[in-house]
Amino acid sequence: MSPPKACLVTFGCQMNEYDSGRLADLLAAKGWEATSVREEADFIFFNTCSIREKAARRVLNHVEQLRPLKKRKPGLIIGVGGCVAEQEGEALLRAAPWLDLVVGPQHLPEIPRMLENLARRAATGRGERPAWSRENLAGLGEAQGRRAGAGGLIGQVTIMQGCDNYCAYCVVPYLRGPELSRTAGDILDEVKRLIDNGLKDLTLLGQNVNSYGRGLAGAPSFPELLEQVAAAGVERLRFTTSHPKDFSPRLVGLFGRLGPLCEGLHLPVQSGSDHVLQAMRRVYSRESYLRLVDDLRARCPGLALYTDIIVGFPGETEKDFEDTLSLVEAVGYDAMFSFKYSDRPQTASLAFESKVPEEEKGRRLRVLQARQKEITLAKNAAHVGQVMDVLVERESGRYDGQLTGRARNFKLIHFDGPPSLIGQTVPVRVTEAWAASLRGVRVKI
Ligand code: 5AD
Ligand code: SF4
Repeated sequence: MSPPKACLVTFGCQMNEYDSGRLADLLAAKGWEATSVREEADFIFFNTCSIREKAARRVLNHVEQLRPLKKRKPGLIIGVGGCVAEQEGEALLRAAPWLDLVVGPQHLPEIPRMLENLARRAATGRGERPAWSRENLAGLGEAQGRRAGAGGLIGQVTIMQGCDNYCAYCVVPYLRGPELSRTAGDILDEVKRLIDNGLKDLTLLGQNVNSYGRGLAGAPSFPELLEQVAAAGVERLRFTTSHPKDFSPRLVGLFGRLGPLCEGLHLPVQSGSDHVLQAMRRVYSRESYLRLVDDLRARCPGLALYTDIIVGFPGETEKDFEDTLSLVEAVGYDAMFSFKYSDRPQTASLAFESKVPEEEKGRRLRVLQARQKEITLAKNAAHVGQVMDVLVERESGRYDGQLTGRARNFKLIHFDGPPSLIGQTVPVRVTEAWAASLRGVRVKI
């Protein structure tokens, strides 16, 4: 009998990517093969994020589309996991009764066992739906130490989970629970194991990484942790997501000084208007954010900055939106993730008045994105002529002989070279710039 095949589909944040990787390892250990072809899978699992309403709707569409396949292949197991499952599990089961599994983010490690149970039930013909699929809708479990994935060049290690900030729009504190940090010992063990397996580019992950250690007796501060991880011998070190309010002077001081710490930083601002920032409960002001950016750039002039912005938060006026545009102008982000505000269950802003009409949110988003595209292009064009160290990740897949890698500032670069360079860091001179990537030629040394 050929081994069963699992198709894992991931939507959303890096935390979800990380969880999917972990699930893939667990399934592989039980003899499952991975596939990206839904038609040939025995188990299809959507690991999802519900931070914005769109993601939650999207997963239901995907599940709907599988209905004919499920009819043709009754043994097929379909599951939904992650934050959407946690939050909208009941609704999902009601809308798509042919769903077999709904699993909250903390219960993913139980999936291999659930699949065995399902197979047993199918064999004995008892029970339509396993009782535990509902149990798994229950609240958040205990945060678990996250296991390292298989060896790889680029990796992530979760250092903390959850969030205590309760930004007015955000569902994360309700879904991922309170902040919980892993011990430095656990983190360093995992990092060393990954480095032994070839890791060169490491991102420390958490909803709010720079409040790492809060409430954990004897924990190092986040900057101390970064120093310890850097000392373990990683070539490139990054972290995400950091909150501007918790960005200590000591953390700023590591930029440009701690060798492996890369010159690329994701620093979500959400809005450029003090009035909106306050309503969002972000705790910092436009001015203090801009000062932080200045301090960072003084230490590290080449720092590439990335951000998240929400347009159309309840009560956002045209003037507030213009403040966001002018902040975007003043900072000059290298790239941006921008979103229309959406109401999420349980959040404070759900009850806020003066909701911005959908068309207006759409207009603001288009204006913002169009302007950011120009800025991104200009930022990328400024690299033309520079030599950047590129960690070669893979063949580009566009045409033969082209490789793709990332510079330390996280920009994607394509250049010609042999596949033997994969895994190495090579100097590349940038020759062309687009909005989403750069092109260059290898510099012979
Ligand atoms: N509506 C729109 N965008 C949101 N985000 C979080 N919650 C919402 C919401 N309710 C965005 C924020 C956050 C990113 C991950 O998603 O910009 O930084
Ligand atoms: Fe959500 Fe705010 Fe926490 Fe980020 S800091 S996860 S936006 S509550």
